Amino acid sequence: MAFRLPELPYPKDALGDYMSAETLDFHHGKHHKAYVDKANGMLDEKGLAGASLTAAIRAAKEKGDKGLFNNTAQIWNHSFYWQCLAPPQGQQPTGKLAALIEEQFDDTAGLLAKLKEEAVGHFSNGWAWLVLNGGKLEITSLHDADTPVVHDGMQPLLTLDVWEHAYYIDYRNERPRFAESVLGNIVNWEFVGSNLDGEGISRADQELA
Ligand code: FE2
Repeated sequence: MAFRLPELPYPKDALGDYMSAETLDFHHGKHHKAYVDKANGMLDEKGLAGASLTAAIRAAKEKGDKGLFNNTAQIWNHSFYWQCLAPPQGQQPTGKLAALIEEQFDDTAGLLAKLKEEAVGHFSNGWAWLVLNGGKLEITSLHDADTPVVHDGMQPLLTLDVWEHAYYIDYRNERPRFAESVLGNIVNWEFVGSNLDGEGISRADQELA
């Protein structure tokens, strides 16, 4: 029984210069894979045979098992992150998502400016998040491997990985340029909008197989 590394939802060269194939090789093929391998190395002794990924994350949090929590949470965070991205085709928010953005941030540029500010301002490793909380859009960030899976009321819509391993190949140390470039060009707004149904957590879940 093991968790698996999910396939990327697009070819490695599909995100162009905004996120290179080399970045995806390292970030998905090495960093994300390492979390999967490390979590799998711990499962047998933890009594979690047959647990889903989200159940394992919540059990690890409850038991205060930091090693298992960090690795399983990072499997989920990355599985969600890859789905938040799509090849650059001028995509924009539509429908209910566009209406919520207009109501709270005036327009998409306003939302992205706030999300970029959160991403750039987050000290050290973590994740910038757009979530739905009580029917409202909310921008926040979580530290290290922390994840909406263990935060009641945080329904995940969109995330940006701000660990340095997310941008050092394409953007060196320039997190602001990375955030601006990715958020402005390769967000999968269709996926983000679909998560308004409150089922975002399940879209990056997986069963032990
Ligand atoms: Fe990452």
